[in-house]
Order: sequence, then C-alpha cells, then structure tokens
Amino acid sequence: LSADQASLVKSTWAQVKHSEVDILASIFTANPDIQARFPQFAGKDVDSIKDTGAFATHAGRIVGFFSEIVGLIGNQSNVPALYTLTEQLAASHKARGISTAQFGEFRASLVSYLSNHVSWGENVASAWNVALDNFFFVLTSNY
Ligand code: HEM
Repeated sequence: LSADQASLVKSTWAQVKHSEVDILASIFTANPDIQARFPQFAGKDVDSIKDTGAFATHAGRIVGFFSEIVGLIGNQSNVPALYTLTEQLAASHKARGISTAQFGEFRASLVSYLSNHVSWGENVASAWNVALDNFFFVLTSNY
C-alpha cells in the first residue's frame, strides 16, 4: 500500500465510518447467510432490527474494527499491531465456524457500500483493493 493509497483509504473511510448501522444493514440485506450467524438477528427483517440498540452495538463493534485498522495503516511501525488485530479477528471468527467465503461476501458488500457512498474512482477503488488484499492475506493465512 503506497502512502497515497493509504491516505485515499483513510479519507474515504472517514466519510462513512459513522454510518455503522447503515453499513451493517446493507451487509445483512445482501447476505442473509451472514445475518443468520448472529443469534439475536437471525431470520428477522433487517428493517425491523436496524433501529434497535442491540443492532447499533454490533454495528459499532464491527465497523469500529475497520476504523481501528484504517487508523493504523500507512505507518510501517504499525504493521505488527495490524497483524495482531487481524489474527485475533480470524481466530474469533474461525472459532464460530465462519468461513473465508463468508468473509469474501462481507468484503464484496463493503466495497459495494463504499462505491455508492464515497466519491469512487479508479484510484480509490485500487487503493481499497490493495488494502483489503493485505487484510485478507493475513486473515486467511492459517485459517
Ligand atoms: C463478532 C468484526 C465478519 C459473524 C464480531 C466482533 C467484531 C467483528 C469486532 C466482536 C468481537 C468478536 O467477538 O470477535 C468483523 C469484521 C468482519 C466480520 C471486521 C469482516 C471483515 C463476519 C462474518 C460473519 C461474522 C462474515 C458471519 C458470517 C460474527 C458473529 C459475531 C461476530 C456471529 C458474534 C456476535 C455476538 O456477539 O453475538 N465481528 N466480523 N463476522 N461476528 Fe464478525
């Protein structure tokens, strides 16, 4: 990830990072199989859960994880911390039986959300692609 790419990822993430509920709702809507893994939300209509406190709590954790990651990118000295956080996420989700294919669906929906909510050009798209490739490389090694 070049310095320019890191700053594109940071500046575009800053435009959506407070839309936690909207982001998680779009991921659930596009992927009922992901929603199905959350016991308190499984099988429910997304519109009926999206305004609940429980949904906001989960959305805040999941989207907040990305904010933590994005906050660390672009600085070589943060690479060990990026590895640690990503490996912990892999371990907690592997233990729940979440597949890497489901992470792939999550990624596709997140990119789709971004492409519809930030100004999206070739440079932004490729910056996110490299950043997510790096993240997924660590997430899926040893999965
Ligand atoms: C919990 C992040 C993908 C299912 C969590 C938590 C975080 C998180 C931060 C809370 C801490 C923890 O328990 O580990 C993410 C991120 C993802 C992702 C950043 C994508 C890059 C997925 C996918 C699924 C999933 C694809 C299901 C197919 C769950 C479940 C929980 C959870 C079931 C526990 C919820 C509960 O406490 O009831 N996730 N997650 N996650 N995640 Fe994910």
